[in-house]
Amino acid sequence: METKFTRRNWFKSTAALSVGLVAATSLVDRLLAAPMSQAELNYLATANGGKIRLGSNENPYGPSAKAREAVVQILSEGNRYPFTVAQELKNILAAKEGVTADHIHIGAGSGDLLCQTATAFGIEGGRIASGFPTFPLLMSYAQVFNATWDKVDMNDKLEYNYDALASAVKSNTKLVFICNPNNPTGTLVDWNKVKSFCEDVSKKVPVYSDEAYLEFLDPSLQRSMVELVKKDMNVIVSRTFSKIYGLAGLRMGYIVAKPELIKKIAKYSGDFPYSQTAIAAAQASLGDEEFMAMVRSKNATARKVLTDFLNEHKIFHGQSLTNFVFFPAAKDGKTILSKMEERGYMMRIWDYQNKEWCRVSIGTEEEMKGFVKAFADLVS
Ligand SMILES: Cc1ncc(COP(=O)(O)O)c(C=O)c1O
Repeated sequence: METKFTRRNWFKSTAALSVGLVAATSLVDRLLAAPMSQAELNYLATANGGKIRLGSNENPYGPSAKAREAVVQILSEGNRYPFTVAQELKNILAAKEGVTADHIHIGAGSGDLLCQTATAFGIEGGRIASGFPTFPLLMSYAQVFNATWDKVDMNDKLEYNYDALASAVKSNTKLVFICNPNNPTGTLVDWNKVKSFCEDVSKKVPVYSDEAYLEFLDPSLQRSMVELVKKDMNVIVSRTFSKIYGLAGLRMGYIVAKPELIKKIAKYSGDFPYSQTAIAAAQASLGDEEFMAMVRSKNATARKVLTDFLNEHKIFHGQSLTNFVFFPAAKDGKTILSKMEERGYMMRIWDYQNKEWCRVSIGTEEEMKGFVKAFADLVS
């Protein structure tokens, strides 16, 4: 049964939490009703100054009911440091990935782990190579330490060009970053191709495989490079709870790598940078197949609204298997952003090959219908 989750009720429950008057059961009931509630979706949209958030690849359906319930339950433990629960989560992740807990390192989102890795490999300078455009955080952070970023363009289908990337490895390259499916292009390269790239290149230099969007793929395609970690290769795999699990605001991610690489990276971790609530939500979300299937399916339907629109207007775009789509901007980026902001939508503009490109995250089906209507005069 769907309970109406009104803004008023939301404030009431937030107020109850803040003064510690937690009627846990009724709160849980209300929180459980939330993921399906149109009212809450509207509230979340209006809470951001009235803008529909299509700029950060967020999940409009999360957190799941199980995650919300776990967060409520753990609040009463908020006076305790998260030592035990952190270890517990590591053990669970290790069992899930088929490795030991020494192969796992958790962080406040995978962004935290990208920065720690950037420090570990960039602190002495040298070069980091990646495809381009890609999620830039690791490389940008490493540049703070005077590391150099070697960028290798995508192929003409906006896919990572693994042959060209392998050729870009130099004697002083410290790390190679890959992202599959890739942000911002949304494209996926066949697992076997990526696997042979990792096998070859990791003999010379560690490879960091960012798999933030892996769970958006059909389960039959969800093959991780963790298989190479299990063979003791120099491969670091990162995963996040921010995307399919919808926990971006709670901050939890993890990496899987052989223990010596984990130690090298974890040296740069803050002292327990994550909270009990993030750990509880992540733990409760893991393996929630029903929730993931719901997000995957709604995302595919909503993404089709945008890709149909682009196809109708004969606009080239990356074949996205994720919750965002990348295509060339028909007008200058500044105009697009300001016009769309006026019309109530946030999105992103990227620079690539001396051109500007739009990256639009996938919201709900209704949001995407609204988006294409608002965007229609900006495509020619
Ligand atoms: C490819 C990729 N990796 C990592 C992240 C960082 O996500 P988080 O720090 O929320 O785990 C993002 C965020 O958009 C991303 O797109």
